[in-house]
Amino acid sequence: MPAQITPFHHAPTGSWTYVVVDPETRAAAIIDPVLDYDWRSGRSGTASADAVIAHCQGAGGQLRWILETHAHADHLSAAQHLRERLGGQVAIGRGILEVQRTFRRIFGLGPEFAADGSDFDRLLADGDLLPLGDLGIRVLPVPGHTSDSVAYRIDDALFVGDTIFMPDSGTARCDFPGGNAALLYRSVHTLYALPPATRVFVCHDYSPGGRAPRCETSIGEQRAANIHLRDGVTEEAFVQMRLARDATLDVPNLLLPAVQVNIRAGKFPSAEADGVSYLRVPLNVVGRPL
Ligand SMILES: [Fe+2]
Repeated sequence: MPAQITPFHHAPTGSWTYVVVDPETRAAAIIDPVLDYDWRSGRSGTASADAVIAHCQGAGGQLRWILETHAHADHLSAAQHLRERLGGQVAIGRGILEVQRTFRRIFGLGPEFAADGSDFDRLLADGDLLPLGDLGIRVLPVPGHTSDSVAYRIDDALFVGDTIFMPDSGTARCDFPGGNAALLYRSVHTLYALPPATRVFVCHDYSPGGRAPRCETSIGEQRAANIHLRDGVTEEAFVQMRLARDATLDVPNLLLPAVQVNIRAGKFPSAEADGVSYLRVPLNVVGRPL
């Protein structure tokens, strides 16, 4: 029987979270869970993640995996909240080691942040196959947007993270530290080599033109119609387009808080002597000069 896939849209950040359940054994995985966060006040909340938890419990799911497609820069991960409530292992691509080292430097973090991947329960390598009851989750590295990006393939469903978006939205930016447009081009083509009927589930949708948010397309649709990267677009043309477009994009609203939490697998920095956890803001380091 095919995997049961339930999408959850997080409107404030345009993010999609997925619950995947094996119908035979009820083994479940949750991909890219979102923690609510108000950057003005520094307050976090779990209402969105709790809706995902309620669905998983209602479906009788036994959570095995909490999977990140990469260390997101636009939302904070709810991985630790899910892990506390439902169990399961938090996993991400091995490229997180490079991402952790990069951002340890950018945020001036000291030895309290090991940057050795140990905040995660499992680091994933190319070709790893994670058991999900009678199903398997195949890990496909797709660097380019970030160096830790991976896609997850479960039966005919492919969770692509920030590589390609819906066909009318194109592809992910490549201007974060560790980003590389040529690498993204090659990564997307490894996905485009999969059968055209493969169902593609995207990580974000920003409702271009005011249409309703969408989360599912297919490899065939992407190859025919992706506005940035359809069949016939050369690597050179793609890289030029991506570099030009990235030069116009603002830093994401939540980049500074999101990255600091997400490189720790969704954990907040250790509380200081007053019992409060603090995030850092490196002045005049990130983004374009004003
Ligand atoms: Fe991203």
